[in-house]
Amino acid sequence: MADTDQVVEEEIDLAPTQKILDALPEKSRRYLIPALQKIQGVYRYLPEPAMELVMMDIGISKAQLYGVISFFPKFLIEEPGKYIINLCYGTACFVKGAEIIVNKIHECYKIKPGQTDASKLFTLQTASCLGNCGAAPMAIIGEDTHGTIDPEKSLELLASYKL
Ligand code: FES
Repeated sequence: MADTDQVVEEEIDLAPTQKILDALPEKSRRYLIPALQKIQGVYRYLPEPAMELVMMDIGISKAQLYGVISFFPKFLIEEPGKYIINLCYGTACFVKGAEIIVNKIHECYKIKPGQTDASKLFTLQTASCLGNCGAAPMAIIGEDTHGTIDPEKSLELLASYKL
């Protein structure tokens, strides 16, 4: 492991993770997903040192833990960009050009779904139906919901978000 990785790990405050684990009704895999959701709510992703604590506390192996994490695209194992772009890939949005928007974002920011751009401004994710198909294609950028976007409009929107 590189020295810089070591420094980053040491900077993570594990007290919130311990508090979440201590508040579980029981130390069992039944509560793993809610615990991971809360931990990600604290750090915006699932830092490795926090996951070590989860493995010890709940008593699961690394393979079991990361098997669960990798099953749910919402769980992030790397720190995301300042804004997460959730681009709807549901049927209505896909038919209306969501994939073309993804390609446009890739062209401009060099990111594909699951990736973060070099400046750590955006992490791109695709989502299942966001529940407003009438305004397809839909995207949620950070906390903001945007409808009837197109490739050009998506770039204009993204340009309004700054570090
Ligand atoms: S398919 Fe995109 S909002 Fe429903």
